[in-house]
Amino acid sequence: MRTRRTSVPAIRTTKASAGGPRLAMMTAYDEPTARLVDAGGVDLILVGDSVGNVVLGHEDTLRVTVDDMVHHTAAVAAARPAALIIGDLPWLSYHVTVEEAVRSAAALVRAGADAVKLEGGVNRLEVIGAIIDAEIPVMGHLGLTPQSVRAFGGFKVQGRSADAADVIRQDAAALEEAGCFAVVLEGVPDGLGAAITLERSIPTIGIGAGPATDGQVLVFHDAMGLGAGTPPKFVRQYLDGATLLTGAVAAFVADVRSGGFPGPAESYVTSEDLRSHLKG
Ligand code: KIV
Repeated sequence: MRTRRTSVPAIRTTKASAGGPRLAMMTAYDEPTARLVDAGGVDLILVGDSVGNVVLGHEDTLRVTVDDMVHHTAAVAAARPAALIIGDLPWLSYHVTVEEAVRSAAALVRAGADAVKLEGGVNRLEVIGAIIDAEIPVMGHLGLTPQSVRAFGGFKVQGRSADAADVIRQDAAALEEAGCFAVVLEGVPDGLGAAITLERSIPTIGIGAGPATDGQVLVFHDAMGLGAGTPPKFVRQYLDGATLLTGAVAAFVADVRSGGFPGPAESYVTSEDLRSHLKG
């Protein structure tokens, strides 16, 4: 069992592309899932705003609030994982004023996050600087950033043209310069994921960014086969969780209907005294 908490400085210097181990990150939104992914050995647990899609049943992440994220971050922190806990700043919690952004980040830290993640590049440098200035480590997120789904006109791979790729490369450079300790690259061509990984000294963590990034992240429900609908191309499903869990529920229903549950082992035995008393 791992006992020591992973630290931000340790993650900051873990570059697989420079001979280090590859980083594994997975989402969790509650205490039991945090225990499972931590026991599985992930380096980082992301309390993602994907909670909106995969837990709350929304079509995108835009309805998720700071209060939602505080609630789920606290649940994950209750597992006391060895993995670093990253709290995702939801849409509009860091877009209006710098002060509000710092307060949103602080709310996640007070709930138990070790660091926060936010989406955007050059357009978010002021906010990133202020959050880091408040001693809160920041992970960046570039490419197919889900909070920009309306602006992108859908969940579309980003950085496919030379110009678009260069914008993302410049954003990655700016995030490193601003002091981000790592950056998520989502939904970009594998060559761009590889180029940014080589160019940057901070670790890149990919999701749909090819195999060359310094680490990989998956949404727990996608990886465990618990999602609704067809998962995106970049998902590898490690378990048919929906079939397994539905089968277990169906077995419970069958046991209830047949009277086979509960049995003696699942019941509190009545003493002889009480039995006589109950018979009257
Ligand atoms: O919210 C989330 O799960 C994320 C990952 C897709 C990186 O931001």
